[in-house]
Amino acid sequence: MRAIHCTAYGDPKDLIVAEIAEPSPEPGDAVVAVEAVGLGFVDGLHVRGGYQVKRPLPFVPGSEIAGRIVAVGPAVRPDLVGQRVMALAERGGLAERALVTAEQCIPLPDGISAVAAASSVVNYSTGIYGLETCGRVQPGETVLVLGASGGVGMAAIDIAKGMGATVVAAASSADKLAACRARGADLLVDYSGPEWRRALEQVLAGRRLDVVYDPVGDRWSETAFRCLAPGGRHLVVGFAGGDIPRIPLNLPLLKRASIVGVDWGGHVRADKGAARPLFERLLELAGQGLISPEPSATYPLEEAPSVIERLLGRANIGKPVIVM
Ligand SMILES: NC(=O)c1ccc[n+]([C@@H]2O[C@H](COP(=O)([O-])OP(=O)(O)OC[C@H]3O[C@@H](n4cnc5c(N)ncnc54)[C@H](OP(=O)(O)O)[C@@H]3O)[C@@H](O)[C@H]2O)c1
Repeated sequence: MRAIHCTAYGDPKDLIVAEIAEPSPEPGDAVVAVEAVGLGFVDGLHVRGGYQVKRPLPFVPGSEIAGRIVAVGPAVRPDLVGQRVMALAERGGLAERALVTAEQCIPLPDGISAVAAASSVVNYSTGIYGLETCGRVQPGETVLVLGASGGVGMAAIDIAKGMGATVVAAASSADKLAACRARGADLLVDYSGPEWRRALEQVLAGRRLDVVYDPVGDRWSETAFRCLAPGGRHLVVGFAGGDIPRIPLNLPLLKRASIVGVDWGGHVRADKGAARPLFERLLELAGQGLISPEPSATYPLEEAPSVIERLLGRANIGKPVIVM
């Protein structure tokens, strides 16, 4: 079968489309005929060998898949064959067929396309876990989303709006901010300059900032934290900006504000049953029309290396999905 193959950690442009062996399911496994694969910054970190959990070489990158179960291993209900599902294929998603743990597959309702499902597996689960479970966002609150034009950021805009919050989107260019506006952000702030705190305060115009959703880190986190209202929550989601910031602990004390770690991957690895309720909540919110998971653009398998390169190079807008 055709797959993207990573044979050495390094630059995504060195990834190749290769013919590799068909996966063979072990007890508890299902084989999914992949229709769509969502890509994110983390896929680039895996290819570089820079993610906290390293994939042993050689490996197939990508993990956010949607498709149809075509075979199951021993100890799996045979009637699952034929079911449309979305899943996290941690053993590799950018392939014609992917191996997944059968009990972690989420059945897809008819109304949700494979492309929409693949674009939401990780980012929407993380957003729901972050904003609902960790951030306890309430209707009427104001949420600042950093890196708002990225895949994680766009999902956070959509979910926070669905929860009844006012969303301030922060991004580094007019094009990126326009994409955030189109996704539903109420207020926009360009955070590329050194004086962006003043720009944010102008945009807030005296409004309380209740929550910061932060997948970027680096020099942006402390400024955002300093703008939180008393009782605010700063949700630490990732460090796409590069550096991991260090916040002086007098700030949370003086503000009576919290810094909350949002590690969806760690949450579902620690508790195998934790992924499904988040996926189900996603489908419920989508079914109610409160959120609308959708990719920014779709690409064929051959373009996956350049898409991953753009994600690492800060050159992508929204959530890219590979269509098989
Ligand atoms: N905690 C979790 O469970 C979880 C789950 C999924 C992903 N993540 C993490 O969330 C982060 C974002 O992932 P993503 O898939 O949304 O990535 P993405 O689509 O590439 O978006 C990241 C955004 O960060 C901003 N950015 C600032 N400095 C950057 C730099 N040096 N390189 C690249 N981007 C930079 C960019 O916007 P501007 O140009 O506007 O600044 C970009 O839009 C990653 O660190 C990822 O590992 C965490």
